[in-house]
Amino acid sequence: MSETKRRIRTIGVLTSGGDSPGMNCAIRAIVRSSLREGLKVYGIKRGYQGLINNDMEEMTASSVGNIIQRGGTILYTSRCPEFKEKHVREKAAQILEDRGVDALIVIGGDGSFKGAIAINEDFGVPVIGIPGTIDNDISGTDYTIGFDTAVQTAIEAVDKIRDTAQANDRTFLIEVMGARSSSIAIKVGICSGAENVLLNTDNIDYKQISDDIRRGLRRGKNSSVVIIAEGEKPGRSYDVAHVLEDMHHICSKVCILGHIQRGGSPTPNDRFYASIMGQTAVQSILEGKTQNAIVVREGKVMAVPLSDCSEKSDHAMNEFIGIAELLSI
Ligand code: F6P
Repeated sequence: MSETKRRIRTIGVLTSGGDSPGMNCAIRAIVRSSLREGLKVYGIKRGYQGLINNDMEEMTASSVGNIIQRGGTILYTSRCPEFKEKHVREKAAQILEDRGVDALIVIGGDGSFKGAIAINEDFGVPVIGIPGTIDNDISGTDYTIGFDTAVQTAIEAVDKIRDTAQANDRTFLIEVMGARSSSIAIKVGICSGAENVLLNTDNIDYKQISDDIRRGLRRGKNSSVVIIAEGEKPGRSYDVAHVLEDMHHICSKVCILGHIQRGGSPTPNDRFYASIMGQTAVQSILEGKTQNAIVVREGKVMAVPLSDCSEKSDHAMNEFIGIAELLSI
């Protein structure tokens, strides 16, 4: 065995930031792959908050039984702004050393990856990132765990709203999640046949929306759907509705999908990629390739420098901006 293999005996895993369907699949893969290699796995509860509270327990094969189909995360999660403080990360690194954790796998978004990079740079903790967020907005990867299930959930909701929109000659503004990102909105807009998609940008072309809705009415459509990315301010769709009515005399109803997009049984895509990513993360650690993120690029799962994945980016969906409008004439 290589020197690195002898050094790695225990892996820690945590989930951080917004939970997403498929995180449990990744946890299951990490635990089972590690046990198969004779490694010990500590499940760290509630993300970085649990780490600094030394809240972790040894995982067994049974710990991750019957979870592949469950949304959420059996390790719980949290947002931990105090982890931005170096002294907090120092405490975390000391806890990892005291517990004999040789490498840390962080399943989360760009903010969680920033924390992983920092604890590695400051204190040398070997880390691996697995992109887990419904937002699909992490640089360096075409795919994040939970995106597919969130899109599926949103589409099912939009299809239901279409029934009542059609029955009542109504225009609906449907707001989807995505903290300052537009990936969910772009894909849901195309897959639900929306008339328009409002991205996570402030410059809203109200006249274009109004013209598109009126064009549809002239063509015999009696209902319309506009998908709106929540952007910086969840609920901004009500502001959009007011402008459309006051300035363009377009009446509309608003539906904020919210946290329903965060739950549910993961789709096959999410189960598949999360499982492969988890197994690949353990393999990468055993090969001494840490400070990596396990990503999907052009359908392939691979390890890339974690530093490539620490920014917000809608790159994977940006090329499809405008397609929904193109197809909704
Ligand atoms: O980051 C994932 C996400 O679901 C975003 O889409 C959303 O804006 C945010 O989390 C909501 O965060 P919280 O659940 O902490 O309110």
